[in-house]
Amino acid sequence: METFDKNVSKCLAPLYKEGHMAYNFASDNNSGALPEMIDAVRKVNVEHVHAYGGDEYSESAIDCFKKNFGENIDVHFVFNGTAANVLSIKALLKSYESVLCAETSHLNMDECGAPEAMTGSKLILLPSVDGKIKIKDLDEKYIRLGDQHYSQPKMVSITQPTEYGTVYTVEEMRQISDWCKKRNMYFHVDGARFVNAATSLQKSLKEISADVGVDVLSFGGAKNGLIIGEAVIFFNKNLSKDFKFYRKQLMQLGSKARFISSQFETLLSNDLWKKSSAHSLKMAQLLCEKLSKFPEIRITQKVQANAVFAMMPKEWVGVLREKYFFYVWNENTWEVRLMTTFDTSEAQINDFCGIIESLKKK
Ligand SMILES: Cc1ncc(COP(=O)(O)O)c(C=O)c1O
Repeated sequence: METFDKNVSKCLAPLYKEGHMAYNFASDNNSGALPEMIDAVRKVNVEHVHAYGGDEYSESAIDCFKKNFGENIDVHFVFNGTAANVLSIKALLKSYESVLCAETSHLNMDECGAPEAMTGSKLILLPSVDGKIKIKDLDEKYIRLGDQHYSQPKMVSITQPTEYGTVYTVEEMRQISDWCKKRNMYFHVDGARFVNAATSLQKSLKEISADVGVDVLSFGGAKNGLIIGEAVIFFNKNLSKDFKFYRKQLMQLGSKARFISSQFETLLSNDLWKKSSAHSLKMAQLLCEKLSKFPEIRITQKVQANAVFAMMPKEWVGVLREKYFFYVWNENTWEVRLMTTFDTSEAQINDFCGIIESLKKK
């Protein structure tokens, strides 16, 4: 952890000094990349190699995925998380089949209708207050099988950790997976921040994917310190046979694949993903703890990953956002989302809380 922290600040310090960079709590998407990623792409920038993933760096990265997720997987790289989700659906479902997911899911709220536009498959929405879905709601939506007028349920998609920073337990994942298997449905996980879930649960990546019966996982890179890149992992090779064709059709096949794959190998080696996510989670806990001390602030969700959801006096939000930008998640209630990342520091959290102290005195 010590070395990791020093590494990050060594890389970022000159940028802060020159005023090129401000810190904020908006999103892990807003952070730069882990310094190790810059080294990773530099290291593979040496010679001509096969394109489109046929290079030895990409093969080596896939071996590394196998060490972390189990041998019987098929891994494909794409450019972004929306594509990982859309292509997971496209590969497995026919256009008349539907996906059951939370109404709060990224699939539904933040992909501009891409899943439905690109696959034809309908999203069937389940209610959720904490980002998770419940078995009783799955039961309720599993209807009209064989009815030609109705889009046929064929996949369940959950986000782990959820968009609300909560984490499904292993048991909850297993229950959803069993529910799917009994109905011959696919189990998809949007794991844009999957490493944070594994660290939160203190499990290996395999224990919360292959071992609980996930069929396909959108495994995030950019939110976990990569410059760019996401991976789609199939846990049953028979399911992935069409994937490469759809990936090309949907313009997600990168020719210089080594620059994405080498970053994933770096993330998955030497426990970098564990160190990095442990830091993000620790900072989220600290932020939650410090904010909880203000009676005017109410933490609205369990803090189990790298997001803190809170309600605070409306007039504070504007002032705080001048220095540390963050999103108002719900414009009706003024619930806000504060996110931590691999480069969040205790000093920034203290400074943020210092601004709150000064606002209280006014
Ligand atoms: C849970 C979740 N899934 C998927 C995505 C999609 O990622 P991208 O913006 O790379 O398309 C995001 C992005 O914020 C996300 O938060």
